[in-house]
Amino acid sequence: MLSTPELNTAAEAISRARLVAVSSGAGISKESGIPTFREAQTGLWARYDPEQLATPSAFSRNPDLVWAWYMFRRDLVAQSQPNPGHHALVEMEARVSKLVVLTQNVDGLHRIAGSTDVVELHGNLRRFKCSGDCRGSPTIIDLDTIEHDQEHAPACPHCGALIRPDVVWYGEMLPPGALERAFDIAKQCDVMLVVGTSGVVQPAASLPVEARHAGATVIEVNPMPSQIAPVVDIFLQGPAGQVLPLLIDALQAFRNRSLGA
Ligand code: APR
Repeated sequence: MLSTPELNTAAEAISRARLVAVSSGAGISKESGIPTFREAQTGLWARYDPEQLATPSAFSRNPDLVWAWYMFRRDLVAQSQPNPGHHALVEMEARVSKLVVLTQNVDGLHRIAGSTDVVELHGNLRRFKCSGDCRGSPTIIDLDTIEHDQEHAPACPHCGALIRPDVVWYGEMLPPGALERAFDIAKQCDVMLVVGTSGVVQPAASLPVEARHAGATVIEVNPMPSQIAPVVDIFLQGPAGQVLPLLIDALQAFRNRSLGA
């Protein structure tokens, strides 16, 4: 379980860092009421596997099923609020030289909490686009400007192609620039704080490996070890909503000791 020495060691590394990179996954949003991917899907989606729904072929085969799943997830996200884990990262950003969040999450909660430098590696569930990108990539469509319902994928008002969520599906390229920036940050950071990811999906799962190879200290926050365990220097075991606020307290305590307070 979480120990004070580990928190203090992590706090010292973060305090001394010129650049802190945070790599976050679905686990940080769990305490906002949003289910993670590899824990059982809740309710009516329990019988579907995300890897069967979040793909271009699933959308072309059954657009209305995929649309309905994303409408369900969008409504879930719309009702959710950032939790103490998200807020602790905003607090951390104010206490270190520079902090960049590299998130796999599509719920937008880091920005809503107040994080100012967020790289959305897998897009954003609150944005929708023409599946044909008829007016450039991406052709964003504001759903409030078109007739639509929860069950049927609507047509693009410009070209008639179906509208889809602006998220990265399995087999698709990540948003141009996002991946490059994420790896640049991973290679330059002094600390990478990995929060709430199973570390199974590439290329995001390689970010902590790159960071460690470049000499960064890798700190993981998770109730259980993930696939990135081999490159983790400090494992802070527990839910993000509890551990990250404790890490902020440890940062303050380290700062007080340094100032001789
Ligand atoms: N705090 C921190 N971590 C938690 C919490 C919590 N309260 N609850 C669960 N976790 C951890 C789990 O132990 C697991 O390691 O969060 C992780 C969630 O893993 P996944 O469900 O695999 O989510 P993620 O790693 O973000 O998935 C990556 O896969 O389906 C794709 O595009 C999708 O972005 C997603 C990607």
